[in-house]
Amino acid sequence: MTGKELAQQALNVMRQSYSPYSKSKVGAALEADDKVYLGTNIENRSYGLTVCAERTAIGNAVTNGARRFTRLAIATSAKEHILPCGACLQVLAEFCDDLEIILVNGEGEIKNCTLAMLYPHPFRSKK
Ligand code: THU
Repeated sequence: MTGKELAQQALNVMRQSYSPYSKSKVGAALEADDKVYLGTNIENRSYGLTVCAERTAIGNAVTNGARRFTRLAIATSAKEHILPCGACLQVLAEFCDDLEIILVNGEGEIKNCTLAMLYPHPFRSKK
């Protein structure tokens, strides 16, 4: 699958976003173990309980037994691309040292980055 196709899946699932408070629709498509797991942001009237699209997708992947994450596409309906928040970066770092991240905006424009670029020093507990 091309990066553009993964980005398109993130754009498609973004339509399911539950975001009545911020009105910011976000979609995530996580490629893991050669499958794609989707997620959207799920907001709550108790704002702090909101879950980001990325963590919804990670939850779907892990629930289905996938652990080897390879690429993540994140879509926003806005003009400006969005980057994963710190909480999502730490949750991604639980499962992989590095990951290709594809950002796509509401106009379908793509930017590329990596987990290691965005989050070079994750918290790692001593085993
Ligand atoms: N959001 C995500 O889904 N992913 C991010 O990486 C950043 C923010 C959501 C949370 C909230 O529903 C909305 O975007 C505005 O912050």
